[in-house]
Amino acid sequence: MRVLGLETSCDETGVAVYDTDSGLLAHALHSQVAMHARYGGVVPELASRDHVRRVVPLLKQVLADARSVPADIDAVAYTGGPGLVGALLVGATLARGLAAGWGVPALGVHHMEGHLLAPMLEDVAPGFPFVALLVSGGHTQLVRVDSIGAYRLLGESVDDAAGEAFDKVAKMLGLPYPGGPQVAALAADGDPQRFTFPRPMVNRPGLDFSFSGLKTHTLVTLRECAGDEELSQRDKADIARAFEEAVVDTLVIKCRRALEQEGLSTLVMAGGVSANRRLRARLADSLSAREAQVFYPAPAFCTDNGAMIAYAGACRLAAGEVDGPDARVRPRWPM
Ligand code: KG4
Ligand code: ZN
Repeated sequence: MRVLGLETSCDETGVAVYDTDSGLLAHALHSQVAMHARYGGVVPELASRDHVRRVVPLLKQVLADARSVPADIDAVAYTGGPGLVGALLVGATLARGLAAGWGVPALGVHHMEGHLLAPMLEDVAPGFPFVALLVSGGHTQLVRVDSIGAYRLLGESVDDAAGEAFDKVAKMLGLPYPGGPQVAALAADGDPQRFTFPRPMVNRPGLDFSFSGLKTHTLVTLRECAGDEELSQRDKADIARAFEEAVVDTLVIKCRRALEQEGLSTLVMAGGVSANRRLRARLADSLSAREAQVFYPAPAFCTDNGAMIAYAGACRLAAGEVDGPDARVRPRWPM
């Protein structure tokens, strides 16, 4: 089965073709980051309009790269939610229109299921069951995965997502959007000994997270450090480092706890924050090969992309799922 996948839930237009026999045939992405940067975050209306502009040229490019014609496509998968409603509607409308025109099924898939399954696109893919840490701009969740669709939420953030905290701290430090990679780059020059930030909720049992207090702690430190002066580059780097260390430590502690609790030895990381180098290194240091094997998507598939949607769609379609006539996009959609 050959599946076209469309991702338009936020600020990336992603298109891909996945073939259940041959794997990923082609993918293309347009990021709106530069367009939103001057506003300090995603402007929903601009996002929708840009998806409209970009998605058809990307589709043509991907079909050509996949050496496919419309008659080769057996189904169209798109991100049905969660996400920005206008942005979601662009992908959903195009997907359903194409599917109707081509006489094939369409299917709206869950964006976070896309992230969750992205490591399956790699040559060495994880086997079920596993614990997944989903860390993006909108979600921080630990999930037990027994098979496609068999997901049990083990814990999640009670307030800000980890990526959201990175983005907000970036703003405090005067760094452009999206903040995660910027904070990480600045932190690389920081002194890890100068400040120690709290590791939220690690001394309580359970697998939930909270990043809002850490964000406030960062702001208070920033103000104390600055006084009436401009913050020096040194101060900024040290604060970025302390913040990153605290987030990374917290995520690693909870991952270990989840593996132990579930008696599992496979960990999958996905979502934008899983691109963070310090997080990857710390996990590798903290989990011996005997304790657990860790799987990541390729860097291009950590953040939003069409390949993960084509893949998740292919899995669901293979299980017989298709959109009914009353299918709707779901801006809020618990997994
Ligand atoms: O998965 P994603 O592309 O979009 C959502 O579904 O949210 O994740 C984007 C998030 C942003 O908050 C961004 O700042 C964060 O992932 N991010 C990072 C890094 N790369 C992206 N956070 C920390 N370190 C990184 N290297
Ligand atoms: Zn995402």
